[in-house]
Amino acid sequence: MNEQSRKWWKEAVVYQIYPRSFKDSNGDGVGDLRGIIEKLDYIKSLGVDVVWLNPIFASPNDDNGYDISDYRAIMDDFGSMDDFDELLAGMHERGIKLVLDLVANHSSDEHVWFQESRKSRENPYRNYYHWWNAEDGAPPKRWSFFDVNGDAWQFEEQTNSYYLHYFSVKQPDLNWENPIVRKEVYDIIKFWFDKGIDGFRMDVITFVSKDIPFKDLPSKYDGNFVQYYAEGPRLHEYLQELNREVLSKYDIMTVAEGPGTTTENVLDFVAEDRRELNMSYHFDISNLGHRNLAKKLMDPAGWSLVEFKKIFSRWDAVFNEKGWGTVYLGNHDFPRMVSRWGNDSPEYRDISSKMLTTFLLTMRGTPYYYFGDELGMTNIRFDNIEDYRDIMTINLHKLIESEGGDLTEYMESQKLIARDNGRTPMQWDDSHNAGFTTGKPWLKVNPNYEEVNAAAQEAHPDSCLNYFRDMVSLRKSEPALVYGKYTLLDEGNKSVYCYSRELDDRKFLVLLNFSERSATADVNFSLDSGVLIGNYPEPSTNASLRPYEAVVLEIYDNIITI
Ligand code: GLC
Repeated sequence: MNEQSRKWWKEAVVYQIYPRSFKDSNGDGVGDLRGIIEKLDYIKSLGVDVVWLNPIFASPNDDNGYDISDYRAIMDDFGSMDDFDELLAGMHERGIKLVLDLVANHSSDEHVWFQESRKSRENPYRNYYHWWNAEDGAPPKRWSFFDVNGDAWQFEEQTNSYYLHYFSVKQPDLNWENPIVRKEVYDIIKFWFDKGIDGFRMDVITFVSKDIPFKDLPSKYDGNFVQYYAEGPRLHEYLQELNREVLSKYDIMTVAEGPGTTTENVLDFVAEDRRELNMSYHFDISNLGHRNLAKKLMDPAGWSLVEFKKIFSRWDAVFNEKGWGTVYLGNHDFPRMVSRWGNDSPEYRDISSKMLTTFLLTMRGTPYYYFGDELGMTNIRFDNIEDYRDIMTINLHKLIESEGGDLTEYMESQKLIARDNGRTPMQWDDSHNAGFTTGKPWLKVNPNYEEVNAAAQEAHPDSCLNYFRDMVSLRKSEPALVYGKYTLLDEGNKSVYCYSRELDDRKFLVLLNFSERSATADVNFSLDSGVLIGNYPEPSTNASLRPYEAVVLEIYDNIITI
């Protein structure tokens, strides 16, 4: 199994739950921890090993929990610490691990640290955040992803200074230069590890080291703040300290949200000998097909499968000898996988959704699978800005409006990529509000719930849901699908993604048609190859594929030619 040692988190399938949208147990329209507890047997039935929950901590919800006001308390909307303890125990009883979300680049402005910090320049908490004294002139331009003016510096009258916020004005950036702040973060992590959780996904962890003393942006980063923010001078020093002080003492997993990570630098974060983190996820795929990333505008020309294959293949190659990768096609920051990468028309929704599931579960690297994708849930495509709840979508709309930009283009792009598309409530059944809540849902339910829902799919052996279960169990039964060498075949094919996975004497071939036309891969394999799974009732046994067809074959005689 080459040099890469086996680890539980390499073999795991991670299922991500956005708690606000999963299941509401008390009728207030917001999903909660007791709702997740009600659905533990469903989660278990999927066969997944790890659940990652988006932030569940006390928060005024400017950014749905990514603005934390108390890192050791549960958000009121979500329940109590007793509910949390019960949830964790319920997962562990079922053999499922629990990973939480660590948001340590910034806190809420309602955190007591910031409440103190903003009071005076002499306050003991002043140095918990980044401040710029106004008498030194205006601070150099920094981009804020969620600010109505795109400005990451917010002026405060009270102390005649500006504070830094890469995200919304209610998300001031913590000052990791201050060793006391780092110690606070380590203590929070210890608190949760000592409760028994199994790891952390680390929110924008690549941004924690700031370019003190905030000089003008070097011109090579013009228009690419993400890259600049991710290359802070002390980043790796901090991550190594974090590992030494806390992570190395527990059997847990860590995954960086890695904006700004590249195939050149990612091993600095995840190579074993660096002693930093276990995994990271990149944005190269999700960035595909944009005309303007910062403003979330899409390129009408769309995206190309050849490019998509190149990106996944380039990223796979990085981890040939060291480190370990991740694969995902959607999460709470992106639209629904089938709407973005497949085809969500009624005709092709199920088949293309199963094809994408086949992809995620046959690649090397730990798959992160987003709740609801197992049903083929689709983008809601709001026409009106009033329907959106996401601060990013709302504030960018304001920004583009104030600049006199093209709001029609913006709204059309949001139908494809706005984050709320992936945050609509889970579709459990065909009852009112899809069985998500008895109240008014915080975000509209997708009207297709009468057709696309878990209850209906339980009853059908061929449903997306049951296909996902079959794919999870296939991956778990074949170490080659986890650890095996990945080789891209027929790389120039514009419709078919084809690759092999090999380990010891086992060899698998994966054929995926990403188009709505029949297509053929230019590969040959012997006819006595065995089909392990396919998304059509009678899977193809050769390289000619129907629209969105997916087939996984085992090759017995070692012949694959192109
Ligand atoms: C990360 C989160 C995103 C959040 C942002 C600010 O990108 O995934 O949801 O809005 O950080 O915390």
